[in-house]
Amino acid sequence: MKIVRTVQDLRRELDEARADGRGRVGFVPTMGALHEGHLSLVRAARAENDVVVLSIFVNPTQFTEAADLSGYPRQEAADAALAEGAGVDLIFAPEASEVYPSGFATTVHLSGALTETLEGAARGGAHFDGVATVVAKLLLAVGADAAYFGQKDAQQVLVVTRMVADLGIPTRIVACPTSRDDDGLARSSRNVRLSAEDRTRALAIPRALAAAAAAVSGGEASAEAVHGVAAAVLADAGIEPEYLAFVDPASLEPVRTMDAPVLCAIAARVGEVRLIDNAVIEPV
Ligand code: PAJ
Repeated sequence: MKIVRTVQDLRRELDEARADGRGRVGFVPTMGALHEGHLSLVRAARAENDVVVLSIFVNPTQFTEAADLSGYPRQEAADAALAEGAGVDLIFAPEASEVYPSGFATTVHLSGALTETLEGAARGGAHFDGVATVVAKLLLAVGADAAYFGQKDAQQVLVVTRMVADLGIPTRIVACPTSRDDDGLARSSRNVRLSAEDRTRALAIPRALAAAAAAVSGGEASAEAVHGVAAAVLADAGIEPEYLAFVDPASLEPVRTMDAPVLCAIAARVGEVRLIDNAVIEPV
């Protein structure tokens, strides 16, 4: 496994792989602090491609809180070992100046509900501009056949899929299931910042998703009633969500009835740590 820091070196490595007949490239973009969730994307990429590229770049333009950016865990050596173990061939870990050279003036902006609701509303519009811009740059740099994203960030998958279609970037976007710890908590680089007590409290988030799904399978069809069930589970744990939303899984428009698949999305601060999770709830 090699680590490269410039687009030029990345392209040279990929050209060599192609010349060797290893032409199918899978790409996993990350911000590092790798955990089993990221590695599940690597394994999906490994299963379908000749070469697996993983990027590590803590993208400053998608952070809307300075403390979140400065506190974001950075551990490149440990990441490299995990990546290699999971089958990554090439790590692209650029400096900020490689991604955003002096004079950088272009932003990829998506308008509408996909970027304005949920995370877009909670974190400010700049968040998805930052994500779309950096993902567009990374996809163009790697030129992958397929790029692998986690359903844990369901809205991000929709934004990236829309952006790739709109800009005609010839990379297939693959959504992979949310990877969870044994107790149900969605894996996240931010989980290491939870105290032991908050880690236990945070379990109310997957419990609320399960309670919503159970209410629907028990015959409850009103989104408002299901919202009440999930909100009560969070309230029991002393968690007040930033949002607890029942939306169409493709458009993210709010739904009133649970008569088709519905994305239930939760964002909540537990202690100092902001967590997100979601589930698609199928109708009975
Ligand atoms: P990051 O938070 O590092 O996540 C990288 C990828 O791992 C994303 O596609 C995310 O959805 C996925 N992921 C994280 N936790 C997961 C879990 N528990 N199960 C499955 N997949 C999981 O998302 C980003 O970085 C950035 O926004 C990025 C796309 C790299 C652009 O900067």
